[in-house]
Amino acid sequence: MYVLAPLAGYTDLPFRRMCWKQGMDQAYTALIDAGALIFGNPENSHILARGDDEPWLGVQLMGSRLDLLEKAAPMLDVMDYDCVDFNMGCPVRKVVQRNAGAALLKTPEHALECVRLLRDLIHKPFSVKIRILDDRDPEPTVRFCEKLESLGVDAIAIHGRLACRVYSGPVAMDVIKAVRGALHIPVTANGGIFGVRSAKALQDGTGCKRLMVARGAIGNPWIFKSLADGTEYIPTHGEICDAIREHLAGMVDLYGEQQAMVDGRKIILAYMRGRGYHRALKNPICKMVSWNDFEQILASIATDKAADERLGISADATLQDV
Ligand SMILES: Cc1cc2nc3c(=O)[nH]c(=O)nc-3n(C[C@H](O)[C@H](O)[C@H](O)COP(=O)(O)O)c2cc1C
Repeated sequence: MYVLAPLAGYTDLPFRRMCWKQGMDQAYTALIDAGALIFGNPENSHILARGDDEPWLGVQLMGSRLDLLEKAAPMLDVMDYDCVDFNMGCPVRKVVQRNAGAALLKTPEHALECVRLLRDLIHKPFSVKIRILDDRDPEPTVRFCEKLESLGVDAIAIHGRLACRVYSGPVAMDVIKAVRGALHIPVTANGGIFGVRSAKALQDGTGCKRLMVARGAIGNPWIFKSLADGTEYIPTHGEICDAIREHLAGMVDLYGEQQAMVDGRKIILAYMRGRGYHRALKNPICKMVSWNDFEQILASIATDKAADERLGISADATLQDV
């Protein structure tokens, strides 16, 4: 079972649609702040958008103030999601400054109080996404996860890195494995999946059948096809150009042309990253402001005649799959 992780700034409806086409099993929205949800921040509608064609979608809630969580949880509970997930792993400064995300792991009693409250208010499946608490000793993470389970959490996803490591360094598979061995609820392993080999290593190292893909899917929705087939799928140059167009068109539908052309820049670059496209093709992307600009950029990318030959060579090295 291959699940798309919550990724702020990425896992919106257009991106998820690209991944569904390649065989993704489940997905999550990016985190949504409890306060922003209550106060009706207009950006929320983009994060919350779900397509009728999406078979399974979880929404991720972030926060630490009980009064805000108490108001936010019932709002999400009645919306069209298959699961509500609570974020206890985000290390970004503006999140931890508010004692939310990974900061909750430093105040476990308060974290458990938040979970107790949310469990009472959420009537659909309720999961928690955490990080490991110690990378040498599985015990603290196991004990914490046992408490989450005893509070009625339905599933846990674990990113196998310490919060202080942010997104780099090895994944402590033995810690995730110990949690999986101790709990009765499903445990999803997360961290460092960039292709078939790294996914197999995480599965073998943790014993988890549920694997969560994060950065490995950015610019590479085909990772889900690779994982389902068990062999690395290398998209052709034509498929990459088609995917860029489809993804950007979806963004225009969701955000409108102006915002899509700004947010879409990093998306185009992500599809090109590590695939040997020349810098000269990338330079105009940061100035793109209209669909017309986009068409011209894509037309020049499409003329890269050597791309297919190169892609076969570059794919293995660039996906960092070890
Ligand atoms: C750009 C970016 C945004 C992220 N946003 C979220 C988020 O909204 N919620 C969350 O729980 N984790 C978030 N994460 C963490 C990922 O879900 C995942 O746990 C992490 O990237 C480790 O997996 P990986 O090594 O496969 O990338 C984010 C990570 C990145 C790089």
